[in-house]
Amino acid sequence: MPTTAPAPLTTLEVMTKQRVLSGVQPTGNLHIGNYLGAIRNWVAGQAQYDNFFCVVDLHAITVPHNPATLAADTYAIAALYLACGIDLDYSTIFVQSHVSAHSELTWLLNCITPLNWLEDMIQFKEKAVKQGQNVGVGLLDYPVLMAADILLYDADKVPVGEDQKQHIELTRDIVDRLNHQYGQGETVLKSPAPLIQTDGARVMSLTDGTKKMSKSDPSDLSRINVLDPPDVIQTKIKKCKTDPVRGLTFGDPARPECNNLLTLYMLMSGQSKEAVAAECVEMGWGQFKPLLTEAAIAHLQPIQTKYAEITADKSYLESVLREGRQKAEAIANATLTRVKQALGYSLPL
Ligand code: TYM
Repeated sequence: MPTTAPAPLTTLEVMTKQRVLSGVQPTGNLHIGNYLGAIRNWVAGQAQYDNFFCVVDLHAITVPHNPATLAADTYAIAALYLACGIDLDYSTIFVQSHVSAHSELTWLLNCITPLNWLEDMIQFKEKAVKQGQNVGVGLLDYPVLMAADILLYDADKVPVGEDQKQHIELTRDIVDRLNHQYGQGETVLKSPAPLIQTDGARVMSLTDGTKKMSKSDPSDLSRINVLDPPDVIQTKIKKCKTDPVRGLTFGDPARPECNNLLTLYMLMSGQSKEAVAAECVEMGWGQFKPLLTEAAIAHLQPIQTKYAEITADKSYLESVLREGRQKAEAIANATLTRVKQALGYSLPL
């Protein structure tokens, strides 16, 4: 976590910086897959970019949700962005549903997106199987809403985990199609690029190293949540799946749990891969697990302390989101107008 206040950006720096947009759904607990795959990288790169981070609450209702907790969960994710180190000198935090242009651009993009592109999305297929007969149109349309999120801000880069790569490729296909059909030789929408780090891009479940760590896994033992207290982290690591081999190494496809746990240790302890490989090469699990537990607790503890401070003052968070909405809306509305003009709409008088 940064200890000194960063220098404010000059106007020229803001104007020349590339733009970043990303988001997290307010569904269930934020786990270390979300943190290591996405938010940690937002924080690490934020000084070089002009950043927009939204809490994607419209995405949260594409599967059955609880209306009684949606607003509180949305605030909790915004507070976690700040607690993880998102800095308002570099970044804007806002709530997706507060900026109506997201829904409106989604409709316009829906009308140029072929159905079969959406039916091919891996995440749709996986989630649709879980929903059975109850699959809503929103689940199919989820990637178009995500494309609208990105395109409204003319984002250059989208820092995400590996599982979102296909959705960003789809976004690029939508851009090409819209520019080709309606651009008349001009660029209406800008094509974004995914920003995916090598390590932590796919954090695996603690109970099955071949499955992605996920909010929707029915077992809480499968994930470490960013707000888990130390004793819970200890229990989860104690119970996590390992293998009977002594000596811990990275990259062995026959040992997915070993690779995942070593990667977690590397990222949580802030050591290099070489240092962790050398430290653990002769270790057994009994010796390794306490090390990982200690590193995870030490890494998450400052985030948890900051989260408690931020959530103690609701009016502060409200002011952050109010200001975020204003900044986001100004940019999003300008893009929406540009798209509507390209599509031939009369503009409101
Ligand atoms: P969500 O909430 O499912 O995930 C948020 C971020 O966490 C990453 N992630 C992981 N990374 C590594 N290992 C894992 N096990 C893991 N699980 C999740 C995701 O890749 C994501 O970066 N569709 C997005 C939300 C979204 C969005 C956007 C993102 C909506 N609009 C616009 C970027 C830009 C999602 O999956 O959220």
